[in-house]
Amino acid sequence: MSEAFKKFERKSEKQEKAQRIKIKRSEEYEYLEGVFDKITLLTIYKLLNDEVFSELNGVISTGKESKVFHAIAKDGKELAVKIYFTGNLEFKKSIRKYIEGDPRFSGVKRKINSLIEEWARKEYINLESYSEVGVRVPKPVTVRRNVLVMEFIGKDGVSAPLLKEAVIEDPQKIYKKLIEYIRIGFLKAKLVHGDLSEYNILMLEQEPVIIDVSQAVDVSHPLAIEFLQRDIKNINRFFRQFGVSVYEEDKLLKELVNA
Ligand SMILES: Nc1ncnc2c1ncn2[C@@H]1O[C@H](COP(=O)(O)OP(=O)(O)O)[C@@H](O)[C@H]1O
Ligand SMILES: [Mg+2]
Repeated sequence: MSEAFKKFERKSEKQEKAQRIKIKRSEEYEYLEGVFDKITLLTIYKLLNDEVFSELNGVISTGKESKVFHAIAKDGKELAVKIYFTGNLEFKKSIRKYIEGDPRFSGVKRKINSLIEEWARKEYINLESYSEVGVRVPKPVTVRRNVLVMEFIGKDGVSAPLLKEAVIEDPQKIYKKLIEYIRIGFLKAKLVHGDLSEYNILMLEQEPVIIDVSQAVDVSHPLAIEFLQRDIKNINRFFRQFGVSVYEEDKLLKELVNA
């Protein structure tokens, strides 16, 4: 073994120790260790070490595919950290259809874990694209492997309520804004959300913020128009109950497709 290599080894041992100490102070450590695999834990250590966030706090939400945590950035800003599970075979099968058929992801080799990493990266890129055109989504901060860091939508560790549960002061106004987001998302970001509903929109004060964009597809995806139709349907269905006069679905769909 060369001296340089030994030195490197000593250094990385030291680094790892420092990282461990840092995260050990966190109450979450044991919890994290029980839930995530080694590579995911290392990714979290690295993000802590690189000071992307300085504290990883409690779980905001546990889904089938991911857990979302609250974290604090070095500058004190609140962050949301979405960590995708790597061991979920059913999930891997189900996301294949969204990635395959999207030209942005063609020709990428898909090993088992890299599929999940690609999914996280897709969510990051989609957040970026939506942000750029003015669709209100959490601002993406970074993505590393299966860990996505983004702006926290809420305050003092409490997420903004889902549209489903929020008190909506002016339904007509929120409806129009959401249709506008669908429109510019489609025409400018060239994306279809694909899972848009009252469950994937947070109400930050009275501003709708669209979340959960990992499955959003490029408009050229073979199922894009079907997804777009479903998104419009869901939003219309939700707002009809407030007596909002909604756009005719087919008309809106045609208008977007032919624009
Ligand atoms: N950026 C965020 N800020 C605050 N809360 C968030 C954020 N992203 C997700 N959440 C919370 O986590 C829940 C699940 O997130 P979501 O992205 O919808 O994942 P999934 O539905 O796949 O589990 C949301 O309903 C919301 O309560
Ligand atoms: Mg969701």
